[in-house]
Amino acid sequence: MAEPNVEAAPAGSAPPQGREHWSGQTAFILAAIGSAVGLGNIWRFPGQAYENGGGAFMIPYLLALLTAGIPILFLENAIGHRFRGSAPLAMRRVHRSAEGVGWFHVAICFVIGLYYTAIIAWSLSYFWFSFRLDYGDDPAQFFASQYLQLGEPGTLSAHIVPGVALPLVLVWALTIAILALGIHKGVERLNVVGIPLLVVTFGILAVRALFLPGATDGIEALFTPDYSVLTDPDVWIAAYGQVFFSLSLAYGVMITYASYRRRRSNVTGPALVVAFGNSSFSLLAGLAVFATLGYLAHVQGVGVSDLQGIDGVNLSFVTFPAVIAQMPGGQLFGAMFFASLVLAGLTSLISVMQTISAAFQDKFGWNPRTTAVAVGCVSAALSIVGFSSSTGLFLLDTVDQWSNQLGIVAGAIAMIAAALWFGRRGHELERHLAAVSTIRPGRYWPALVNVVTLLLIYMFMSKAISLAKDGYGGYPTWYIITFGWGTIAFIALVAVVMPWLRWHKDVEHPHLWPSRAQLGLPDRIGVKATERYRPVPRNDDGETP
Ligand code: PFF
Repeated sequence: MAEPNVEAAPAGSAPPQGREHWSGQTAFILAAIGSAVGLGNIWRFPGQAYENGGGAFMIPYLLALLTAGIPILFLENAIGHRFRGSAPLAMRRVHRSAEGVGWFHVAICFVIGLYYTAIIAWSLSYFWFSFRLDYGDDPAQFFASQYLQLGEPGTLSAHIVPGVALPLVLVWALTIAILALGIHKGVERLNVVGIPLLVVTFGILAVRALFLPGATDGIEALFTPDYSVLTDPDVWIAAYGQVFFSLSLAYGVMITYASYRRRRSNVTGPALVVAFGNSSFSLLAGLAVFATLGYLAHVQGVGVSDLQGIDGVNLSFVTFPAVIAQMPGGQLFGAMFFASLVLAGLTSLISVMQTISAAFQDKFGWNPRTTAVAVGCVSAALSIVGFSSSTGLFLLDTVDQWSNQLGIVAGAIAMIAAALWFGRRGHELERHLAAVSTIRPGRYWPALVNVVTLLLIYMFMSKAISLAKDGYGGYPTWYIITFGWGTIAFIALVAVVMPWLRWHKDVEHPHLWPSRAQLGLPDRIGVKATERYRPVPRNDDGETP
């Protein structure tokens, strides 16, 4: 039975605040997995692994997961759960001057939402095309010329392609409707239905792929280790980057989602379920994708290493359609593949949009419906103009490089600096997690996060230098400055301007539970704890009575 949707405050504390809630732990886990499992698992992970040492990539990947992915997932969960707010609100409560960091995350989400929808729209079209194998004869030509009607790279075109605009409008309408229904009836329902459906659909697809002739060659190609890559710093950067993107870290998403958990919730256990669930899905996708590529190589009589287009847009919209068209029962296989992309994409997109929506709700006191319509309509208009035009693909490629490869690393560094260095919340957050969770993060957790930050700073510098020196994708300089660096400038501007606007309510005196005293900490930050820490008691279910 669904619990009432208003938080029951812990005994003897302030009255209920009326913040929306997940109906329970499972709903939260499914929603967080929904955010994590996305296009990154299906089209990014297999290609990254293949290009970065195959089986040997699992070593940096697992290390990245354990040293950065999980610790920072804990951090975001802790910030969201303790300070109970959207990214800007929670960050402001972490440190008075850190609200901008939250807006930085929100702005990145805004930018990503604009083009992530376009990819979901393409997948929706291809789902439809699969039934008649429209792309069958020449998938590369079909995608570029017939479907996207691609113009010149490095130019801007005002020509809106109706075949892209129509599904894009549909995706936006659906997104706005789900957001407007709120956390419980909208976001939660989408994930509770969508994620099991995705796992079943993709699971069937993977099993089918494993029985195709040549499948084992593909899998062998994916997993044959090349240990020599382990000395290459770029491979390590790729692994850390993949883990960040895949777990939706440093986008403010996990802060936002954790803020809708009840105060008495086990925080670390579910976070681990999310992390390992997400990686398991990546592995499953790796198997399915490479088994299918093995089949393609088999049909063409070439080696798997001779195949082109095994990553990203090309994998999904050129290479896979080529396989689907040649495979017995290809229509169904194709429909299942593109349905999986739509589902995986939609549940991630909703998390991005909810992060923006929550921020505006908190800041201005708007309700979910008004916010969904306002944020959704502005985003939809920009997204349709920018990404259903015949040069949308190039714009997407450029904006993605700067926002996703550079922006989020900066967002992660800023968040950690605000929470641990300037806000000095490491101790408090660690005790908070220990008090409410079954699995304690341990005293070394904040130290680990600090160390990882050094690596993030290195990642940021090397990416920024390479983009500044070499540009990207052969696009002209004016284009890179406008849409690449311009994107970063926009995100930074939002982060600077938004904190100047007034909050609609008093955000200075949050009701923290457990209180600092209950956590054995002095009232003022920065004063050394003298009292011995007695953990807040927990029962066997990990609940704090
Ligand atoms: N984690 C998603 C994926 O792997 O595809 C991508 C993503 C979703 C990134 C949501 C960021 C985000 F806020």
